[in-house]
Amino acid sequence: MTASFEWGADEFRAVGHQVVEMAARHLASLPDRPAFSPMPDDVVRLFESEGLPMSGAGVDAVLDDFAALVEPWPFGNGHPRFYAWVNPPPHPLGVLAELLAATMNPSVAGGNHAAVHVERQVVRWFTALAGLPSDAGGLLVSGGSTATLTGFAAARHRAAARAGIDVRRDGVQGRRFVLYQGAEGHGSARKAAELLGIGSANIRIVESDPQGRLRADTLDELIAADVRDGCVPVAVLASAGTVNTGAIDDLPAIADVCGRHGVWLHVDAAYGGPAVLLLDRYAQTREGLRRADSIALDPHKWLYVPVDAGLVLLRDPAVARDAFSLVPDYLRTDGDGPVWFSEYGFEQTRPFRALKVWMLLKHLGVDGYRSLIEHDLAVADRLAAQVEAADDLELLGRGLSVVCFRARPAGVEDLDALNRRVLSALQLGGEAFLSGTTVDGVFALRACVVNPRSTPADADAVVAAVRALSTLPQ
Ligand SMILES: Cc1ncc(COP(=O)(O)O)c(C=O)c1O
Repeated sequence: MTASFEWGADEFRAVGHQVVEMAARHLASLPDRPAFSPMPDDVVRLFESEGLPMSGAGVDAVLDDFAALVEPWPFGNGHPRFYAWVNPPPHPLGVLAELLAATMNPSVAGGNHAAVHVERQVVRWFTALAGLPSDAGGLLVSGGSTATLTGFAAARHRAAARAGIDVRRDGVQGRRFVLYQGAEGHGSARKAAELLGIGSANIRIVESDPQGRLRADTLDELIAADVRDGCVPVAVLASAGTVNTGAIDDLPAIADVCGRHGVWLHVDAAYGGPAVLLLDRYAQTREGLRRADSIALDPHKWLYVPVDAGLVLLRDPAVARDAFSLVPDYLRTDGDGPVWFSEYGFEQTRPFRALKVWMLLKHLGVDGYRSLIEHDLAVADRLAAQVEAADDLELLGRGLSVVCFRARPAGVEDLDALNRRVLSALQLGGEAFLSGTTVDGVFALRACVVNPRSTPADADAVVAAVRALSTLPQ
């Protein structure tokens, strides 16, 4: 087959219609399929054995391969009873926005083209929602992990400069840089600490109060002690919704402590950010959020934007520019538009992530998002209520749209083992998909509802499935 780069508009349209039809069928069929089914061994073997294609195949053959080998085995997060981790289904408009973004295919490193201005507008909308000053900034990144890495890199830069260290040139110079986070702080903070040369041993895990929130008084004491010992406090990671139980730290109290010690406050709102920004009941948390130096907030989580779309907001973008900017001669572009995004973060070529966020914000509006998030919270409430009403189930953790619980049928001693079996059977059985975690030392089934297609009846079905599996003979 000859390699053809040039497709006429008619050919693009014809293939495009086929692809849209496949996508529409996929999305529509998800509720009637198992929540998850693992890839069959024979299909895995096909992937492992097929060699690199040396000569190309026709488009129909490629689409047939997609239909036969890929589409039937999704991750599961389009299903109304997929409650694992924080992985919502994509809003359909977001799926189509991906097509348009790829059609334009810019690099949003910088320049004076539309994609740059779309991203600037998206960032401005979020800085305003978060109550940051009008000269705050930020950028879209791959997800919450990169958002936290970016915030920490800026924080490390500022802390090092204050300690008289040029960290970009000289590294950390044997000084002990320290970070602070709660017991439920996300694991991406640890990865970031390791990458930034801070070291995971230099993360202080601050004890939690009975609600799972980082204790601000303990944090205060730890920072004071570290300063006395000659350490360089870099940043505090506070959570506006932990992944484990949805716990929300007392941000105003933590902001007070950070302010007193001049330590950078990074808020991980990757999951909970949208609820905190939009719902009245989180107004007090919002008061703390607006005092953050950096915020991680993932549109690809509770804003239903297709992966990937993370966002880091920066109170003082100049610090991030100092930490990251590197403009070799071949990239110098004097006078063409705003400062390049690539000067504020690690990526050089950057995708047009902003389009799907921008389109969905325009389409749903703040009010639309508010009602979708309220819906998810109501389904989570229903699930928690059903758990509490059942005498063979135990509620272990509840925050935002997370419900952690376990089966506790009479007469079973090893509840951890039982619940691990229940989880595995549930995941492989296809009725629903939860994840597992540990809450206060015991194994828990964890449900996180971030799916507007999920109904109270789905929550009831999950509870029924767990109860049925927990009473099956071993
Ligand atoms: C609270 C929180 N922070 C950070 C992350 C990491 O985000 P990502 O997986 O997009 O890198 C997650 C992921 O679930 C999360 O829930």
